[in-house]
Amino acid sequence: MWAIVLFMLVGGVPPRPVISPAASSCVRCHLQLEGDLLEPARLFEHDVHFKRGLSCNACHGGDPTVGVDTGGPGDAMNRAKGYIGRPPRKKIAALCASCHSNLDFMRTYNPQARVDQYAEYLTSVHGKKYVAGDPNVATCTDCHGIHGILEVAAPNSPVYATNVATTCARCHADPKRMQAYSIPTNQFELYSGSVHAEALMKNNDLGAPTCNDCHGNHGAAPPGLESVANVCGQCHSVQWDLFDKSPHKKAFAEGNLPACATCHENHDIHRTSDAMLGVDENATCVTCHDKGSKGYTVAAEMKSGILDLQNRLETARQLLQRAERAGMEVSGPLYNLSEGRDRLIQARVVVHGFDAPALLKVLEEGNKIAASCKESGDKALDELSYRRKGLAVSVAILLVMICLLLIKIRRLGK
Ligand code: HEC
Ligand code: HEC
Ligand code: HEC
Ligand code: HEC
Ligand code: HEC
Ligand code: HEC
Ligand code: HEC
Ligand code: HEC
Ligand code: HEC
Repeated sequence: MWAIVLFMLVGGVPPRPVISPAASSCVRCHLQLEGDLLEPARLFEHDVHFKRGLSCNACHGGDPTVGVDTGGPGDAMNRAKGYIGRPPRKKIAALCASCHSNLDFMRTYNPQARVDQYAEYLTSVHGKKYVAGDPNVATCTDCHGIHGILEVAAPNSPVYATNVATTCARCHADPKRMQAYSIPTNQFELYSGSVHAEALMKNNDLGAPTCNDCHGNHGAAPPGLESVANVCGQCHSVQWDLFDKSPHKKAFAEGNLPACATCHENHDIHRTSDAMLGVDENATCVTCHDKGSKGYTVAAEMKSGILDLQNRLETARQLLQRAERAGMEVSGPLYNLSEGRDRLIQARVVVHGFDAPALLKVLEEGNKIAASCKESGDKALDELSYRRKGLAVSVAILLVMICLLLIKIRRLGK
């Protein structure tokens, strides 16, 4: 009760009386109607509210017990009984929040229900501009639908991971709708070509982010983050921790540059390669570090160290494979080689400390493994050629013996 009174004081509407949809006169009558009047009742069958036993009056008010068997439409859609008709756009968020921000009410349906959507929404650019009367920003129904609202976990819900980008793009990729604002409309296009979209859409990797994972479902940023620019560390924590201790941390903060997006972009994130590192024309490092500076020297060192390890591992791999094909037993060193490759992968992560000695340590471990694999490969090939020589000698001796034997047989025959 108190919660409801408090809610009315802060401007909310208390939840409406509950009636089963099948018994609801609203549903029964509207199913007989046509067009825009039928559509809500038809869609409602799949709606999460319908499934929870709520009916049209949950949002529109009115009296769902009369109007079909007794009385007429005017008795059901009765303003005196709280009927509000079609809610104006600027009142929709508060309407949804009248239940969704009411802890006591929501917990009777789901003990784990979250009730912070509206509060979070009010902190976002969408919510702030909505409250100020901007009709173009997103409100609850733009992302969830109006009638036929689905559970967010349903794969065909507009906020399901694989559908979110298209839901946001309906506005953010529409130049007409976004005309009044000074922001780009290319986020969807850029995101769609990113390594993240590829992982999510093609490989069905639900761990890869889409728009709301970085921008939050309802808020300005996901919970626990001051800024969207910090979101990368939630998933790429190792690179984040390394960056945090690196000389770039302070330098980027002073230049007001984001940690990861400065080198990787935010929407247009692509698979990385060694080409990003070093002092070649296309490397990211030379956009800031000029020849002769410490950063330039270190960038070149890091690149050549990584390429060097890669070459050594490749040489060892070729040797071991030749030996293996010739039938030598090299499974041990081949296994060690994969550990060497792990060091190479690790080195590309450790790059993010921008600390030459730390990288060198990993590279040295890798080089040691590469050297011992190469040694095993050399040994196996040496042994192979030794065995081959031995074989040739034994074959020669055997041939001589056979010849002698033939001569002996012929003599005996005579
Ligand atoms: C006996 C039939 C009947 C019943 C019962 C009925 N409606 Fe309607 N409803 C109509 C008709 C006809 C219209 C279109 C004419 C009008 O707006 O009055 C309509 C229109 C509406 C509209 C659109 C109003 C607008 O301004 O565009 C809403 C919303 C609505 N009904 C909700 C409800 C709800 C909620 C209930 C149950 C409490 C309900 N209806 C019960 C027949 C019915
Ligand atoms: C979860 C809240 C909610 C429920 C439940 C709900 N509606 Fe609505 N309805 C809305 C909102 C919000 C709008 C206004 C949409 C807009 O203006 O874009 C609306 C609009 C309408 C309209 C006007 C549609 C138009 O295109 O002009 C009708 C008619 C209507 N609802 C009927 C119903 C009926 C019948 C039911 C039950 C079968 C129902 N609604 C259940 C939220 C709800
Ligand atoms: C910009 C799009 C957007 C807007 C606006 C929006 N939502 Fe959501 N909503 C989402 C996304 C995305 C999710 C999360 C889906 C998931 O978890 O996979 C979500 C989840 C939810 C959930 C499920 C529980 C939860 O918190 O995860 C509820 C309930 C909900 N929203 C209600 C609302 C209400 C009420 C409003 C208006 C105050 C609103 N939403 C506005 C996109 C939006
Ligand atoms: C009369 C109260 C009430 C109103 C008004 C209401 N809802 Fe709901 N809504 C619920 C209940 C109850 C559930 C089921 C919650 C659960 O089981 O976790 C629900 C579920 C949802 C879900 C699914 C959440 C999930 O976890 O999958 C979404 C999305 C949602 N509502 C959006 C809206 C939007 C958008 C509006 C406004 C147009 C709205 N609701 C208005 C009571 C309401
Ligand atoms: C109904 C249209 C609509 C939908 C749907 C929508 N947005 Fe928006 N969004 C807007 C408008 C309009 C603005 C205001 C732009 C401004 O003020 O710069 C905005 C602002 C934003 C901003 C702030 C931009 C800035 O100014 O820095 C972000 C971030 C954002 N939206 C992300 C999203 C995400 C993520 C989704 C999907 C989950 C989404 N939006 C869905 C219309 C929409
Ligand atoms: C990997 C994380 C990530 C994903 C995924 C992502 N964004 Fe962003 N987005 C960002 C970051 C970081 C910024 C810059 C924020 C800042 O500077 O505060 C940004 C900025 C924006 C802006 C502000 C205008 C601009 O272009 O700079 C909008 C609008 C926006 N994103 C919408 C979207 C939409 C729509 C999607 C999905 C199609 C999306 N974002 C996907 C991280 C992401
Ligand atoms: C929700 C988790 C999540 C967030 C947030 C996230 N990523 Fe990712 N990221 C992934 C996953 C998962 C992959 C792996 C895709 C694959 O390899 O198929 C990935 C891949 C990458 C790659 C490609 C790695 C490679 O192997 O070349 C880069 C670069 C990247 N992310 C950078 C970022 C940046 C920068 C941000 C912040 C703007 C960010 N990510 C935010 C989950 C996330
Ligand atoms: C100063 C530029 C720079 C910054 C800042 C930066 N990266 Fe990188 N990142 C690189 C380079 C260069 C590579 C490629 C290394 C290679 O393959 O030799 C890379 C590779 C990656 C990869 C793929 C290799 C791996 O580590 O698994 C991921 C993922 C990644 N970065 C994420 C991030 C994240 C998250 C941040 C923010 C904490 C970040 N990066 C900040 C330059 C940068
Ligand atoms: C956006 C600009 C920017 C990019 C891109 C960038 N750096 Fe830096 N870096 C800086 C700034 C600013 C400093 C602070 C010290 C300075 O001015 O050299 C710094 C410092 C360093 C330092 C420490 C130098 C010292 O004096 O101890 C190293 C090492 C370094 N960067 C390596 C790299 C490498 C490797 C790359 C490419 C993967 C790279 N940086 C890309 C801006 C950048």
